[in-house]
Amino acid sequence: MLVLGIETSCDETAVALYDSVQGLLADRLYSQIAIHAEYGGVVPELAARDHIRKLVPLIRKSLEDSRLGLQDIDGVAYTRGPGLAGALLVGATMGQALAFGLAVPAVGVHHMEGHLLAPMLEQTRPHFPFLALLVSGGHTLLVDVAGPGEYNILGESLDDAVGEAFDKTAKLLGLAYPGGPSVAKEAEKGRMDRFKFPRPMTDRPGLDFSFSGLKTFTLITAREHEDDNQQLTDQIRADIALAFQEAATDTLLIKARRALQQTGYEQLVIAGGVGANKSLRQKLNEMAEQENISVYFPRPEFCTDNGAMIAYVGCLRLSAGESEGMAVAVKPRWKLSDLKPPGERKHKVKS
Ligand code: KG4
Ligand code: ZN
Repeated sequence: MLVLGIETSCDETAVALYDSVQGLLADRLYSQIAIHAEYGGVVPELAARDHIRKLVPLIRKSLEDSRLGLQDIDGVAYTRGPGLAGALLVGATMGQALAFGLAVPAVGVHHMEGHLLAPMLEQTRPHFPFLALLVSGGHTLLVDVAGPGEYNILGESLDDAVGEAFDKTAKLLGLAYPGGPSVAKEAEKGRMDRFKFPRPMTDRPGLDFSFSGLKTFTLITAREHEDDNQQLTDQIRADIALAFQEAATDTLLIKARRALQQTGYEQLVIAGGVGANKSLRQKLNEMAEQENISVYFPRPEFCTDNGAMIAYVGCLRLSAGESEGMAVAVKPRWKLSDLKPPGERKHKVKS
């Protein structure tokens, strides 16, 4: 089964073609970073309008890349949520319209299930069940993954997501959007242990997170070291970036280790944009060696938003007989734990 995957939940327009036998055949992405950079964050209306401009050309390119035509597509998957309503609607409308025109089924995919199963696109894959640490701009989740669609949330952030904390820290330090990669780059020039930030909620039991305090800590530290013109030296800015990154990644490490001990799982999957962070990857790899467990990361471009993960999950669900009704309905808020295993939520396929 050849599935066209469409991702438009935020600031990346992404399209991929995934075949159940041959695997990933095409994967195209257009990042809107340049459009939103001058505003210091994503402007939802601009995001939606740009998805409209880029989606059809990306679909054409993906078909060219794989030397296939529209008539080869057996099903369409699009991100149904969570995400920005207007941006999601662009992908949902295009997905439903294409599926209707081609008389093939369409399925709306949960964006975080896409991230969660992205490691399945790699050659070395985990097998079910496993523990997943999902770290994106909107979510920080520790998930007990019994099988596809069987997700039990063990811990989550009570306030800011870890990616959001990276983004806000970058803003406070005057670094460019998107904040995660900027903070990581700045941290490379920082001096270890110049500042020590707290590891929030690690001193009490449980697997929940809280990252908003770290952002406040960044603000206070920055204020204390500003000169009379409210400027930081380059060195202090880098030191703060490093202290923040160390605190955020240590916190994730401590909770992931705790969740592994509680569940007894020997496989840990990391996914979502913050999974691209080199310091986090290194720490988790070291922990895996110490604890004698296996850790699975998607390649960095499959950690951040991409169409391949949506095409992959779509293929799983369409192959199990799932499809949406023809209504173009998106779910800007949608809990991962509300999902069912593929095939348990069957709709009548349009004739
Ligand atoms: O998964 P993703 O691309 O989109 C969402 O579903 O949210 O994640 C985006 C988040 C942003 O907060 C971004 O700053 C963060 O992932 N991010 C990083 C890195 N690359 C992206 N955070 C830390 N280090 C990175 N290298
Ligand atoms: Zn994402």
